[in-house]
Amino acid sequence: MTRGESSADAADGPRAVRVALLGCGTVGTEVVRLITEQAGDLTARVGAPVELAGVAVRRPHKHPWLTENFGELVTTDAAALVARDDVDVVVEVIGGIEPVRTWLLEALKSGKSVITANKALLAEDGPTLAEAADASGADLYYEASVAGAIPLLRPLRESLAGDRITRVAGIVNGTSNFILSAMATGGASYADALEEATRLGYAEADPSADVDGYDAASKAAILATLAFHTRITASDVHREGMREVSAADVAAARRLGCTIKLLAICERVVAEDGSESVSARVYPAMVPDSHPLARVDDAFNAVFVEAEAAGQLMFYGQGAGGAPTASAILGDLVAVARNRVGGGRGPRESAYASLPVRPIGEVPTRYHVDLEVADREGVLAAIAGAFADHGVSIAAVRQTGGVSGSVDRADGSEHTQARLTVVTHSAPEAALSATVSKLLDKEMVLGVPGVLRVEGLGRAVSALGMGE
Ligand code: NDP
Ligand code: HSE
Repeated sequence: MTRGESSADAADGPRAVRVALLGCGTVGTEVVRLITEQAGDLTARVGAPVELAGVAVRRPHKHPWLTENFGELVTTDAAALVARDDVDVVVEVIGGIEPVRTWLLEALKSGKSVITANKALLAEDGPTLAEAADASGADLYYEASVAGAIPLLRPLRESLAGDRITRVAGIVNGTSNFILSAMATGGASYADALEEATRLGYAEADPSADVDGYDAASKAAILATLAFHTRITASDVHREGMREVSAADVAAARRLGCTIKLLAICERVVAEDGSESVSARVYPAMVPDSHPLARVDDAFNAVFVEAEAAGQLMFYGQGAGGAPTASAILGDLVAVARNRVGGGRGPRESAYASLPVRPIGEVPTRYHVDLEVADREGVLAAIAGAFADHGVSIAAVRQTGGVSGSVDRADGSEHTQARLTVVTHSAPEAALSATVSKLLDKEMVLGVPGVLRVEGLGRAVSALGMGE
């Protein structure tokens, strides 16, 4: 069926919308299950049957369930499946950049609708896919690429299309949240938690994408693009992963009444002269326990959206896993199938604002800095001076304990070592980095074992019992 063609046929009923599924792993298996188990409902909702035309995998022998039940549909030649004339919609759940990009571009150029969960590809080269979709009038849908089952992209793209979004921020990587939750409760080691997240189907094929923040950065790029009508790619997103978060950091956060979460933050920044830019960043940060994000555990995701007229909205749900992700894909499938049956088209890419990206060095955040120092007179003043020299204002300082028998870096003598916790007011990243470098140059500073950002700090400072 060509786009816009009426599917009604007096003799045979509406012509089926035929789907090529690329990939049948954690997500693809659930897509097959939902398409087959819900065939009757899908027909009623779309106005025509939705049928699998073929399923491409790499190693059919690894898929006994698929080959036993759908053997005639299975192929290892994804390119040929995409090129088939009887395919209307291509659903891609393989992942990675190539050869998937080539296949999806071929599909879009020939007018086939594309649904993908591939945030890495969208964040690297989404504009090329969007241009191909616009050129042929085909649909490009990707709800499953961010936050699993949570309906988030459609609200940004459609429901809030008349509002002005100022901020999108939250937890968008299930695997890292699963690990951080396990570390916070002391239930499992980092390695065990990562292994369990992989077993449950949450982790990427290369889980460093999860723990090093690449996956969250891709999602931040997609969110910022939609929220601010500006093309943001993964390379525009400042990225720090959670691999470096230690048990000591988790304990320090707990003492402060906080929990560490890997956050993705996308903001519209308005300068004093009225000029606007976009800040998109991913990093682990302390969040006050009283904040709803602190209670988002396991592989769940939660995202706050702030818009000028709507105010604050919160989206929460399962952020990873086969069935939750397949739910988002099926939602897209119903939308594009309806468009094909009814002759309509989903929203096009909207990137008219073309806002510049704000460098991370200029982005102000509050910080929690743990210092190991020689416990002697004048140390506190010298440390405070280093912060002041770089314009970083200190909100609170606490000496969290003395340890005897430490060796002084300068003269090798033994004396008491103290741990200082400094919480700052908002300061640009560049100023904080310069402060830490200067601190490390001081002989009384034995180490700076922990530097973490603190988001929503007001209540955290109160938790320290020291006030601002
Ligand atoms: P899996 O690794 O479980 O599945 C990937 C599938 O792709 C496998 O069936 C594999 O076949 C197939 N495949 C790989 N290369 C080829 C090829 N050249 N030709 C044909 N088939 C190929 O991945 P997931 O299902 O977990 O993820 C798929 C996509 O969905 C990724 O983009 C991921 O980022 C995204 N996603 C995943 C979520 C999750 O929770 N898992 C959530 C949201 C998005 P074979 O098994 O034979 O090797
Ligand atoms: N690996 C991803 C995660 C899958 O853990 O969030 C969902 O996009």
